[in-house]
Amino acid sequence: MDRHHNRGQPNSDGHQNRFSQERSSLKRGREHDRGNEIHARRVRPNESVSPQTLRVLRQLYDRDFPIYKQPVEVGFFSLDSKRNFWNDARLLRYYVEPEKCPNFNLRDGYRDRFVKRDDGIKEKLDHILRWILANSHKMQSKDATCPLGVDFVTWRGHLTKLLTTPYETQEGWSLAVSKLAGTLYISEVETEYARRNRDNRTERHEEMMYWGYKFEQYTCADEPQASPDSGGVVNTNEAFCTVVQTRLAEHKLLFSGEVDCREANPQAPPAPACYIELKTSAEIHTPKQRSNLHRYKLLKWWAQSFLPGVPKIVAGFRDNDGLVVHMETFKTSQISQLIKTEYNCWKPTVCMNFCSDFLSFVRKTVTEDDPRLVYLFSWDPHKDVTFTIHRDSEYTFLPDWFVKEITRLRCETHVPPRA
Ligand code: A3P
Ligand code: MG
Repeated sequence: MDRHHNRGQPNSDGHQNRFSQERSSLKRGREHDRGNEIHARRVRPNESVSPQTLRVLRQLYDRDFPIYKQPVEVGFFSLDSKRNFWNDARLLRYYVEPEKCPNFNLRDGYRDRFVKRDDGIKEKLDHILRWILANSHKMQSKDATCPLGVDFVTWRGHLTKLLTTPYETQEGWSLAVSKLAGTLYISEVETEYARRNRDNRTERHEEMMYWGYKFEQYTCADEPQASPDSGGVVNTNEAFCTVVQTRLAEHKLLFSGEVDCREANPQAPPAPACYIELKTSAEIHTPKQRSNLHRYKLLKWWAQSFLPGVPKIVAGFRDNDGLVVHMETFKTSQISQLIKTEYNCWKPTVCMNFCSDFLSFVRKTVTEDDPRLVYLFSWDPHKDVTFTIHRDSEYTFLPDWFVKEITRLRCETHVPPRA
């Protein structure tokens, strides 16, 4: 269980029910407009301005755990083998528990039964936006200035990156933010570093990326009573995504994340408590390797599952030839206890407070409601978070079909109800 001192009441998962505070620093950054870089004006000492950077030192965020409300599933969608959107759960799969030493061969099918999603196609927030339009009746708030009734819309994966930022030493990120009808939309932009890595992956790395999906095929069935079909094709276009709503401190969030599978038992608790995250990892032989799992992998696994309230992570440990030799289950709520014996280890509270402060920083910065205006927040390891501003640029990511519909919704919200 995540045990943190806080002013709210944590429940058994560490998700809670009240507020905390914010923090930031004062420095000027740079602005970009129509591709031309404009240096921002100097700040006089007494001038009241929004901070231009956010610092990322761990010790700045080591305080009481912020309120993080139990995430509520407000919907779901599926993406089929051709990446078509469906407003239903047709791609949801059911967990089938393997033996303790299942000897799954994760290399099987890599050459002849693998359809890989084209990761050069950037879908941005499009699937979530489609879900919002198909389900706007579920979300409409009475507040005309914010018809969706949420402060932020994003992917769970983007939030995972924010949570792990204070501990990340390798990979930076770039997040584009636009405000539309009172809601801030956050969409990742691939960094140069990430694109180079993607273009230069070794054949071994390419194959190892397949192993995680193959493991899912060995442990999931398409129907609650069915068995896995390890002879089928692994198609990484297919996905089932949950859409959850929650609140982090004062920030109301709506985000979506891919869910690997659910408990097959129909009596299992309702989503997201019935969901299971599947992982693979290298087999552990030494205390040092166990320690590395705790220090690095469990941080990412915890952040990814804690955010949407997925309570269970099932890991298959494999040898260097891709043979799964050992299974282990981690309860998301127990990971913070498990890592406490590690010297100078990561802390959930630092992750959550940094994310909360970043969202506060974004809210203070992105005040203009205009979908063609993008604030690009960027961070590199050992640096502060900075931002640049872009109008009608390559970074604009909210599509016209969405902007039109939301604008129409906003107008509807303005119409006073008939007597
Ligand atoms: P593992 O989780 O077993 O590593 P997820 O675990 O998030 O559901 O992702 C499923 C699989 O996608 C991963 O399995 C891994 O094979 C692949 N994958 C996801 N993110 C990746 C990344 N950033 N780099 C490489 N592979 C990744
Ligand atoms: Mg997984």
